[in-house]
Amino acid sequence: HKPIKVALLGCGTVGTEVVRLLTDQAADLTARVGAPVVLTGIAVRRPHKHRDVPAELLTTDAEALIASDVDVIVEVIGGIEPARSLLLAALRSGKSVVTANKALLAEHSADLFEASDASGADLYFEAAVAGAIPLLRPLRESLAGDRITRVMGIVNGTTNFILSGMDSTGASYGETLDEATRLGYAEADPTADVDGFDAASKAAILASLAFHSRVTAADVYREGIASVSAADIAAAKALGRTVKLLAICERVSVGGDDDQTAADGTPITESISVRVHPAMIPKSHPLAGVNGAFNAVFVEADAAGEMMFYGQGAGGAPTASAVLGDLVAVARNRVHSGRGPRESAYAALPVRPMGQT
Ligand code: HSE
Repeated sequence: HKPIKVALLGCGTVGTEVVRLLTDQAADLTARVGAPVVLTGIAVRRPHKHRDVPAELLTTDAEALIASDVDVIVEVIGGIEPARSLLLAALRSGKSVVTANKALLAEHSADLFEASDASGADLYFEAAVAGAIPLLRPLRESLAGDRITRVMGIVNGTTNFILSGMDSTGASYGETLDEATRLGYAEADPTADVDGFDAASKAAILASLAFHSRVTAADVYREGIASVSAADIAAAKALGRTVKLLAICERVSVGGDDDQTAADGTPITESISVRVHPAMIPKSHPLAGVNGAFNAVFVEADAAGEMMFYGQGAGGAPTASAVLGDLVAVARNRVHSGRGPRESAYAALPVRPMGQT
């Protein structure tokens, strides 16, 4: 088979690891895909800042790179624009897309899925939620024959590092955040993590996949960890519990008395609740043992029952592992003229506002 040509958009911590893995494992990847996987270009804003990747691959013209003779676009720029426009252009022209962009998926998945379905081009985004942990593929594929009822997880490593630190030392939120910043676990501006925005984006993506619906970050009830005190943690401990920032996505049945109907007049019997907030969970729950910067997601499905996915949710190499896995999948699909899962929102379940019963 002719080579699968890959263009990379962005080359930060994750992108650099993607280039390294693609280069180091070229022979293995060729064997696994059934064709050579060749990196043909890397779009960055400032080429002189990227001394650790081959200079001849660097370009500042992402549009031209996408329009060139490439098969797969890997996006690790992050943020909404220009990533959104670039990926829509790629999908519309039939190029497979692999992205790690949780903010984009959480806000614009409807447009992206529509463009993917219209052209038949693959859209994979395993790295957008819980880094290295295989989670989205299991939800989209392995559990596609089951009915998922609930997804509940620790999907932000920064806040889990802080909360588990507070639990083990008894220190205050402020002291523990300072420590997390000093050790490089929290960013200089920790707002997106500690106020729950990052987890809310991930919850929106998980709910959309688990319930075949369209949930955006704006639909997610969100409460961060900044008001969790040492006294709260001590009180939880006295009850045999611990405090975790949880992203919870669940099906809830709608009470019969308020006769809600969908736009087409059919009665709504089920809605979904999607929320991010600190929660006290029993020490015996599998999620209670997830400490430090680790992530874990607990999934419940009708036939499968309970299962948990655990691992590293951030960092260059773990995130690049998920990106490479997607790249192998979309490359195989091209070699074998197949395609990955579609994400039509056939269930269209309403998201229940927090506080409504
Ligand atoms: N800031 C995120 C975290 C990085 O702390 O988990 C991974 O999305």
